[in-house]
Amino acid sequence: MARAYNFSAGPAVLPLEVLQDAQKELVDYKGTGMSVMEMSHRGKDYDAIHQEAVATFKELCGLGDDWSVVFIQGGASMQFAMIPMNFLGAGQTADYVNSGTWGNKALKEAKKVAALRGATVNVAADCQKDIPTRQPTEFNWTKGAAYAHICTNETISGAEMKTIPEVEAPLIGDMSSDILSCERDYSRFSMFYAGAQKNLGPSGMAVVAIRNDFAEKGPESLPTMLQYRTYTKENSLYNTPPTWGIYIFGETMKWVKKMGKENLFRLNAEKAKKLYDAIDSSDFWTPTALKEFRSNMNITWRIKGGDEELEKKFIAEAKEAGMSSLKGHRSVGGLRASIYNAFPMAGVDALVAFMKDFEKKNG
Ligand SMILES: Cc1ncc(COP(=O)(O)O)c(C=O)c1O
Repeated sequence: MARAYNFSAGPAVLPLEVLQDAQKELVDYKGTGMSVMEMSHRGKDYDAIHQEAVATFKELCGLGDDWSVVFIQGGASMQFAMIPMNFLGAGQTADYVNSGTWGNKALKEAKKVAALRGATVNVAADCQKDIPTRQPTEFNWTKGAAYAHICTNETISGAEMKTIPEVEAPLIGDMSSDILSCERDYSRFSMFYAGAQKNLGPSGMAVVAIRNDFAEKGPESLPTMLQYRTYTKENSLYNTPPTWGIYIFGETMKWVKKMGKENLFRLNAEKAKKLYDAIDSSDFWTPTALKEFRSNMNITWRIKGGDEELEKKFIAEAKEAGMSSLKGHRSVGGLRASIYNAFPMAGVDALVAFMKDFEKKNG
């Protein structure tokens, strides 16, 4: 079996064990005579899968009964729209941190809703264009804001919030690319969410954790599928949910539990350190993110400050050597290695060895 070292930012590498177990259960899930993909979402077999997936995630994040975990299609991008639709009323203000491409996308959707409703969006901090890339540390919060929105890890720039800011308003976090990758106090949030396709499972849905009382704040005049309470009250079963994605999500959460969170978080830090040490070891490489904000999930860098020809060569030769998707996002270029929870240490070692060799030949 040939598995590539897959550095894709998402959809991204999943735990091999999870894929192999899913393969075994693909056509006959635990003697039911059918695939999870084929079973009714209202039956007891699927119900057990769904309940366990939610319970394991809640346990991993330390969430109590006052929280719901729901699955919403449309990815994290749909959340960018649903959040202001539910929580930004006429005359209210929402605070947004513009930390990069994703923070900005969330902000843009909020501005659209604000314009329709007669509400205001305040940019509480803006470092989207800063080079080296970073996350803000100073914020201009609005007193009495309806909510504050942050993106804890900017997947494209490779800048991660190392501490969650203090804020009075209900805090909402886009954690698409660093959820369950490091120690976080999730109780600081009123809601946090992630597109599943990085640390959680296959693409096609967002996993949304939301306090039940917060979910109730949305206007009931919104279309049913756009209200959070529809998902919290019906346990994501108002309509047919993405059952296969939820099954793989549940298996991935069981894998995280089995690995042990502390162990996994330590491994993540070690993997990232190895790569950053390699980047810092020579002027041949130029790191993209400011040291204090370097992401442990998405490592971004350039060759000689931005030698595009050499970068192309690096990406092509790495691919030949079994390391795929090292190209930076199309909007910024350069190199990016996404090393999510399921990415193996051996893949990082292979990349570091390849970098040393490449520098020797091209430096
Ligand atoms: C931080 C962050 N937020 C949001 C998104 C958008 O996610 P989706 O493609 O699931 O809409 C991404 C996608 O990469 C992301 O990295």
